[in-house]
Amino acid sequence: MKVHCKVDNAFLCTKVNLRRNVIKKHFNKSSFNILNCCAAKNKVWRSLDEFYNTSIIHLDLNPQFDGVIKCDANDYVQNNDLSKFDIIDIDTYGSPWDIFFNSIKSCTGTTVFFLTWGRTEKNLFNVPNIIKQTFNFPKSSKKGRNPLCKYMEKNITSLLVRGYENGIFIKDVYEGFPQGNARYFGLTVIKED
Ligand SMILES: C[S@@+](CC[C@H](N)C(=O)[O-])C[C@H]1O[C@@H](n2cnc3c(N)ncnc32)[C@H](O)[C@@H]1O
Repeated sequence: MKVHCKVDNAFLCTKVNLRRNVIKKHFNKSSFNILNCCAAKNKVWRSLDEFYNTSIIHLDLNPQFDGVIKCDANDYVQNNDLSKFDIIDIDTYGSPWDIFFNSIKSCTGTTVFFLTWGRTEKNLFNVPNIIKQTFNFPKSSKKGRNPLCKYMEKNITSLLVRGYENGIFIKDVYEGFPQGNARYFGLTVIKED
């Protein structure tokens, strides 16, 4: 019997290592302001506590500990000033892209983003409208075909270049080893004044 369940941190090590490696590469400081968009139990940043001095704002649709702001992160990033954050972490089960593209509108200077991009089924990623529009994808595809997947796999870099339209430059893209149903990215985003 197959059991389908959501597991918050099935691949905690991958997430933690990606964050450590990207931080090591991009910051020569150890204190960070972080916006943690999908806090859940905060296992990821708790695992990194011993290495960094962090000031974190935690968000979640369903808070699991005291101090988490109960909200949709996509609303939060559109209604708050994000300029103070060094790191914005969008560790969703599904698609991080709407939150990402709405965040880059108001971040300033250099911001490091961590994104988890979950698949809904084998080889099929959650594809929000903003991404479909980027590549002019057809609204619906013939049964049995998945043109979205083909485009997404081959054009991840081009996809990210959409940031230019929002006045940002995506300097580096890192990917953690893909695990199970998810891919993990670390992006360095620069917004010029
Ligand atoms: C994979 S877990 C996050 C694990 C977490 N980063 C940790 O360190 O333990 C995903 C969480 O994202 C939350 N979530 C999903 N979409 C969200 C959204 N749009 N806004 C806020 N929270 C969201 C879910 O409620 C869930 O708790």
